[in-house]
Amino acid sequence: MCGIVGYVGERDCSEVLLNALSKLEYRGYDSAGIAVFENDEIFVEKAKGELKNLRQKLEDGHKPDGHVGVGHTRWATHGEPSDINSHPHGNKRVSIVHNGIIENYKDIKKFLVSKGYTFDSETDTETVAKLLDYYYEGDPVDAIIKTLNDVRGAYALGIVFKDFPDRIFAVRKDSPLIIGVGEEENFIASDVPAILQYTKKYYLLKRNEIATIKSDRVEFCDIHRQPIVKEVQVSDLDMDAAEKGGYEHFMLKEIHEQPNAVKTTITPRIVNGMPDISECGLTIEDLKKYRKLFIVACGTAMHAGVVGKYVIEKLARVEVTVDIASEFRYRNPIITEDDLVIVISQSGETADTKAALELAQSKGAKVLGIVNVKGSSIARNSDMVIYTHAGPEISVASTKAFSVQMSVMYLLAFELAYAKGEISQEECKRLTAELAKIPDYIEKTMECEKDCQRVASKLIKAQSLMYIGRGLDYALSMEGSLKLKEISYIHSESYAAGELKHGTISLIEDGVPVISVATQGELLEKMVSNIVEVKSRGAFTITVCKEGEEFSADLNDEIIEVPALEDVLMPMLTVIPLQLIAYYTTVLKGLNVDKPRNLAKSVTVE
Ligand code: M6R
Repeated sequence: MCGIVGYVGERDCSEVLLNALSKLEYRGYDSAGIAVFENDEIFVEKAKGELKNLRQKLEDGHKPDGHVGVGHTRWATHGEPSDINSHPHGNKRVSIVHNGIIENYKDIKKFLVSKGYTFDSETDTETVAKLLDYYYEGDPVDAIIKTLNDVRGAYALGIVFKDFPDRIFAVRKDSPLIIGVGEEENFIASDVPAILQYTKKYYLLKRNEIATIKSDRVEFCDIHRQPIVKEVQVSDLDMDAAEKGGYEHFMLKEIHEQPNAVKTTITPRIVNGMPDISECGLTIEDLKKYRKLFIVACGTAMHAGVVGKYVIEKLARVEVTVDIASEFRYRNPIITEDDLVIVISQSGETADTKAALELAQSKGAKVLGIVNVKGSSIARNSDMVIYTHAGPEISVASTKAFSVQMSVMYLLAFELAYAKGEISQEECKRLTAELAKIPDYIEKTMECEKDCQRVASKLIKAQSLMYIGRGLDYALSMEGSLKLKEISYIHSESYAAGELKHGTISLIEDGVPVISVATQGELLEKMVSNIVEVKSRGAFTITVCKEGEEFSADLNDEIIEVPALEDVLMPMLTVIPLQLIAYYTTVLKGLNVDKPRNLAKSVTVE
């Protein structure tokens, strides 16, 4: 999703902006641009495609020699990816970069056209730039406030005014923005990693706060011009952690980081052998009283929720509904104060999940956020938060975040099952001890990497494939299928294996790969029947199962074994080969693993 950066100081501004933007590339983008002051004029350059295109254009043409400016990576919403639609937008007096969506841009445009303004791009952003120009009468903050009063939607903005070449302005509503604090230099950025190479200190800009940033000072006020005093935060992010650490791609690095990520997430939450999530404010007494749980999330995080549903319902016998956040927010869900709504998000900035959170709170429910990024919007707005400790996840395809999200689901399920009296303390301790061993088992599961490479080599020519499973294996099939299709661009479906014969089996013909996830003992016979059904129709069968499982010799073309644990914990291991198959298939196809087309790491628009 779009990335914003800005700089005020003594360094070469164009270089700082390009460097900082390169650290935001992981968010996904399709064009980039900068606006830099040179001789008190605003110089703008932008280019479609990767950041290197912008650098080339600057080097071939003119690279402004200045010390103040803003930059942007754009992920197209209104108007195709193109030079013209790239940010910054504006005119000689004002130039802006924007993250988010302006909902009433058509009305604003109509109004401005009636005032004689013309527009070059198809973007919603240009209307904000021109509205700022319309309101500007010498006082930038006044123009910003008047503009914000007129716009509806989600935004973070970085702004420069020609008359003030020593400063930049920043404001945000729903999209994140931080102000980096250096020595005689300051920054703005959508995300801390963008400025980590320059400073670890930053201010968090809250909704409707306006920042005026000069090299030696940052001033904040609200939209009534009341000054705001803020505390500087210090990031604990490690630059090294944000680099590839010897791996060819971030995705592979992040797959291999899972043992440690899970360990770091669960260890502090096991106290005297029992799961303990009370740090978020949820006591055993609170847990007992909830009538129903809603788990709301998007994509991979939603799949972690599906695993949570199966485990919580099985062990704690509490009803759980899992919703895709974009559906939840518009289906007027029946929630009461007696329910707990759990939102799961790696980034903590996903627009639909944020809206679902707000909806749940408006209906009186308490919201528990399970979030990876500290200080993110979802973390701040939730009533209670459990942080997953995966560290920065850079690859667009989520891997380690999924594992840590699942591990929190297990802790919650065990504690809830004990609180509800569904399992004894002894059983709760036993399950928790098994969970604590998972990091070692994940390490062991990595031994299947070679098998996954071999399987991947057989998938690269496939037009379409299918993932099937039952129960918890169905949840994992969904995740395996999403992982493969989002990065390898091979069409794939995930199906509850028992549902195949109700329509989908007609897609099976000679050579269609079917990946069966078959780790659930009590459903294994049924799964075997489903594998027979597809095999007899010509499918190329690949089965992920527990080590030592006996299958008749002619049933599977490929088998990938993972260590055998009790069924309920198997998703923590099964996911590894599914991630590796997706990864190696994509590598073998020569595609951009970490930044798949059309996708963004953090989906901050609806
Ligand atoms: O940051 P979030 O966890 O809220 O993101 C949710 C989804 O956008 C994300 O999991 C997406 O599905 C990933 N690209 C999947 O790999």
